[in-house]
Amino acid sequence: MRELSLHILDLVQNSLEAGATRVSLEISEDLRADRLVIRVEDNGRGMDEELRRRVLDAFTTTRTTRRVGLGLPLLAAAAEHCNGGVTVESAPGKGTVVTATFQHSHIDRAPLGNMVATLMTILTANPAVRLEYAHRVDEREFRFDTQEIKEQLGDVPLTYGPVLQWIREFIAENLAALYVSAPEQPEGENHAQDQVH
Ligand SMILES: Nc1ncnc2c1ncn2[C@@H]1O[C@H](COP(=O)(O)OP(=O)(O)OP(=O)(O)O)[C@@H](O)[C@H]1O
Ligand SMILES: [Mg+2]
Repeated sequence: MRELSLHILDLVQNSLEAGATRVSLEISEDLRADRLVIRVEDNGRGMDEELRRRVLDAFTTTRTTRRVGLGLPLLAAAAEHCNGGVTVESAPGKGTVVTATFQHSHIDRAPLGNMVATLMTILTANPAVRLEYAHRVDEREFRFDTQEIKEQLGDVPLTYGPVLQWIREFIAENLAALYVSAPEQPEGENHAQDQVH
């Protein structure tokens, strides 16, 4: 897929189809270790061991509308191609954790894509689901939890237009701040070098 955000949407969709009421999405970009990790944890119905072991192979699905399930195998293929891989931990009745790892700088690693739009899509389509998000880029971190936002909103619904607008801006600003490069050296020190002729 062209963007990792499409895989992320697919993982979250799997969680929701499994009846999750709580989904935790974590993205860790460790530039020093050259690693990008996407982790989705849910409290859905989980998978038994037999399904868990088969789920990364194409054609495993519990869908009834279509005989092939491609979400996880496609993600696994993309991750393996980028010197990483996918692991699935699951316990029936408890939930599932899917972890996908990529070499961050790999030439074929798809870009993350538009995470603001992705999060807003998940949020607006599933306002009753608790969505926790954590995104790290080296030592910087942005976190939010729809449960905390709901507590602050009181009776105002999460899907009220101005609230969504505020959430979108909040996410956009905080995600952008994760990628701002380290501050320049203090002025005085820079100039000291220029003055040597
Ligand atoms: N988070 C999850 N919790 C419980 N079961 C899951 C979860 N993720 C995947 N599964 C199970 O694994 C199967 C395969 O998932 P996969 O995403 O590969 O395909 P799909 O969702 O069936 O179809 P597609 O993603 O192509 O629309 C699902 O049908 C479901 O039974
Ligand atoms: Mg799927």
